[in-house]
Amino acid sequence: MAKFTFTLILNIFIVCMLSLAAAKSNSSSFSRNLSPETLGLKKEKLTHLHFYFHDLVGGQHPTSVRVAQAPTTNSSSTLFCLVTVIDNPLTATPELSSKLVGRAQGIYASASQNGTALLMVFDLVFTEGKFNGSSLSVLGRNSVFSSVREMPIVGGTGVFRFARGHAEARTHSFDFVTLNAVVGYDVYVLHY
Ligand SMILES: *[C@@H]1O[C@H](CO)[C@@H](O)[C@H](O)[C@H]1NC(C)=O
Ligand SMILES: *[C@@H]1O[C@H](CO)[C@@H](O)[C@H](O)[C@H]1NC(C)=O
Ligand SMILES: *[C@@H]1O[C@H](CO)[C@@H](O)[C@H](O)[C@H]1NC(C)=O
Ligand SMILES: *[C@@H]1O[C@H](CO)[C@@H](O)[C@H](O)[C@H]1NC(C)=O
Repeated sequence: MAKFTFTLILNIFIVCMLSLAAAKSNSSSFSRNLSPETLGLKKEKLTHLHFYFHDLVGGQHPTSVRVAQAPTTNSSSTLFCLVTVIDNPLTATPELSSKLVGRAQGIYASASQNGTALLMVFDLVFTEGKFNGSSLSVLGRNSVFSSVREMPIVGGTGVFRFARGHAEARTHSFDFVTLNAVVGYDVYVLHY
């Protein structure tokens, strides 16, 4: 009888220990340490990309469309609170008919009450050469009347995984009738 009780207690003990071990292993199973080589990450490199961004507001096929604003936006000299969605073409040279290298897809919002500045939140989606299918994410302030505007590159996909860097935007031309703008972009990005 004593032997039976002892075996029973031992069994309960073992079961408790096993379930404790299971609980412990589960609690850490959602994370692990990896060496960068596991993902094929070897040496970080710096890439410079140069292209032109076409903000097409007017014309037959606008790619930059106002979607929301505040009741006070039209009386604001900086169009404060205006929100625009873009799917703008990116080309190799300033002409819209030149080689398409990708698109800029996202949102910009007028976010300054004093001096026109936009909050830009968009992806540069490349469709050309070795960058085809890869993208870079831009998030930053664009004071549109400054000669050079710097915006952070906060990440990327495809060949641009783990990307970080910055974009420099310079207005190439602006049409006061259609409000269309062509903006030169120089993007400097570190990636693997
Ligand atoms: C731990 O994982 C195992 C196997 O997936 C499962 O049977 C068990 O219920 C889990 N335990 C906890 C505490 O989540
Ligand atoms: C604000 O201006 C835009 C562009 O001129 C116009 O389309 C829109 O109707 C105006 N909105 C209001 C509320 O006046
Ligand atoms: C707007 O900016 C100008 C120039 O920087 C400055 O002189 C002025 O005080 C600012 N106004 C407000 C309301 O911040
Ligand atoms: C880019 O990739 C897509 C999808 O894989 C393919 O259909 C397209 O032809 C490629 N474009 C270029 C220019 O390589």
